[in-house]
Amino acid sequence: MSSYVLCVDDDINVLNSLERLLMTESVHVLKCTSPFDAISVLEKTPVAVIISDNYMPFMKGLEFLQKARDIQPDSFRILITAYADFDTAIESINKGEVYRFVSKPWNNDDLVNMVHEAVQRYGIAQAMKRADEAALFSLAQAIELKDKYTKGHCDRVAEYATKIASAMELSEEWIKNIRHGSWLHDCGKIGVPESILNFNGPLSAENKKIVEKHSRWGAELAQLAQLPHPIANIITYHHERFDGTGYPSRLRDENIPLEARIVAVADAYDAMTTDRPYRSKIPHEEAYKILSEEKGKAFDPEIIDTFLSILDKRT
Ligand SMILES: [Fe+2]
Ligand SMILES: [Fe+2]
Repeated sequence: MSSYVLCVDDDINVLNSLERLLMTESVHVLKCTSPFDAISVLEKTPVAVIISDNYMPFMKGLEFLQKARDIQPDSFRILITAYADFDTAIESINKGEVYRFVSKPWNNDDLVNMVHEAVQRYGIAQAMKRADEAALFSLAQAIELKDKYTKGHCDRVAEYATKIASAMELSEEWIKNIRHGSWLHDCGKIGVPESILNFNGPLSAENKKIVEKHSRWGAELAQLAQLPHPIANIITYHHERFDGTGYPSRLRDENIPLEARIVAVADAYDAMTTDRPYRSKIPHEEAYKILSEEKGKAFDPEIIDTFLSILDKRT
């Protein structure tokens, strides 16, 4: 599945270097030296990301991006500005006209990461809109690839969480949302550097804080992609603890949405029973014991009872 990135700059050399930088197997770069040409491209082709220079003859980049938003509101718009445009850039972000801005001269790695993240975000949002489970699942797997120790994690979490939901006799709609939310629960990790995710050993307090930000970053993504509430809740609150000492909002008890409480249990069990860069997996019996000890502390007691009885039947 290939995504389009539209680059607009009156300087063809800049366009060529953006193309070299951003082109991958799955990212196809479209180049326009005029905003008018770019508008006609947008009228025909759905693009994931639009990158525009601000200083162009006849139309400023910001004005072009405002028009682009009317044509394709879902695409991520990035404005390249000179330092002098700083105030304009901030204002345009606040008004929701622009997703990010980049000042010249840009750092290549930062720009590549920013664009590839935006392409993934766009993909998730579109797959959600089309209710395309296969596309959604493959995107979740692509995110997982960043963190090589968690291969298959989101799928296993979905399996455990949906089993809990069926045992609790939740409706098909609930179960579907819980499945999708489980696939995407760690999507905020798009924003965490791979060097931190795959760090071999205990993380420093500072890096731990960065990893913990994945729930907030995921929440931001869920909002941008206008994901259904239960899915957004799972992404945002899957690290809350029943006793109110979790993150990001320190919610407690039933204030944590039910779907997030369910996924928290499934996530913890899978995390304990698989290898992580900083520790080896623990046996099922030990994970089982920890879950029962955390009843009412980290986890909702009723959900723990339900999950433990599912595990009892399995062994
Ligand atoms: Fe997480
Ligand atoms: Fe997780």
